[in-house]
Amino acid sequence: MPLSDHLPNSGRHGSRIEFDRVSRVYSGADHAAVSDVILTIEPGRFVVLLGPSGCGKTTLLKMVNRLIEPTSGTIRIDGEDIRQMNAATLRRRIGYVIQQTGLFPHMRIEENIAVVPRLLGWPKESISQRVDELLDLIGLPHAYRRRYPAQLSGGEQQRVGLARALAVDPSMMLMDEPFGALDAITRLRLQDELLAIHRQLGQTILFVTHDIDEAIRLADEIVVLRAGQVIQHGSPLDIVTAPADDFVRDLVGGGEALRRLSLIDAGSALNRNGNVRNEGLPAVTSDANLRTVLNLLLQTGTQKVTVTDENGAPVGTLGIPDIWSAGLERGTES
Ligand SMILES: Nc1ncnc2c1ncn2[C@@H]1O[C@H](COP(=O)(O)OP(=O)(O)O)[C@@H](O)[C@H]1O
Ligand SMILES: [Mg+2]
Repeated sequence: MPLSDHLPNSGRHGSRIEFDRVSRVYSGADHAAVSDVILTIEPGRFVVLLGPSGCGKTTLLKMVNRLIEPTSGTIRIDGEDIRQMNAATLRRRIGYVIQQTGLFPHMRIEENIAVVPRLLGWPKESISQRVDELLDLIGLPHAYRRRYPAQLSGGEQQRVGLARALAVDPSMMLMDEPFGALDAITRLRLQDELLAIHRQLGQTILFVTHDIDEAIRLADEIVVLRAGQVIQHGSPLDIVTAPADDFVRDLVGGGEALRRLSLIDAGSALNRNGNVRNEGLPAVTSDANLRTVLNLLLQTGTQKVTVTDENGAPVGTLGIPDIWSAGLERGTES
């Protein structure tokens, strides 16, 4: 039997996920962890749930694969109420990736990846072929098949977690801060690889993070949550340029300020008071942007830089207070 017969989604479609007034109140809690969420995720979209710790992201995600049941409201997948589905069957249609990988330590990588295909009773050779295919997809050598999770780095383990979630080609992926424990460089690489996999396979992805930069990097759409409620739902650009309220503004604030600094040049911000002498300070030309200048100040540990014209003649100095006030002025103009 060809492998494609085991992969129901090889027609490459994502599922539609609908939350229809979904709430969840934990017993003994005085407020809802998720409150009256109305949200439709269109097929094939990469949607990021963004919000601070405790705002209900994990609860919302786990209700989709019925690890948690809503107190009220309905979740539909491709139009079908998930309460009408067998929970185990539902979960096999959904790839689930969490921060603590959930790999079985006593099982080899090939066995970990093949958990669901084995449950589904695929023949041995189909499983073996699929494991190789998935190792290629996530960029690990086939020789890793025989290793145990403890013999892999954190980033490699997270790749195996991703491969396992993709094993039966699900039409949906639920990802709960999957890269949260990785170092910055590994994290960037895995984000890129996930984007490439999404472009190739076209599943619907619901991805949880509290990191605005990760959200902006990955998302087609961002859903901002606070205290169990949807505060804003839009493109990354919408969220950054038109935050719905002060809460969202604070959430995107730091990154937005840096992006703004990169649009202002040193010449327009420099301090023209006092004598301009080049006292051995680091120098930048007046067309350098303020983000570059700020980086230079932080790297060199100096108080100021000298700003020069295109001939190298000093025209002024710039320190952190000047950068600060230029950034503030431009921020209030727009
Ligand atoms: N099993 C549970 N029992 C009681 N309260 C819970 C449980 N799980 C989560 N909560 C509470 O529900 C709220 C949302 O939690 P969670 O969905 O884990 O948020 P997030 O993933 O955004 O950090 C928090 O106030 C949390 O303390
Ligand atoms: Mg969580």
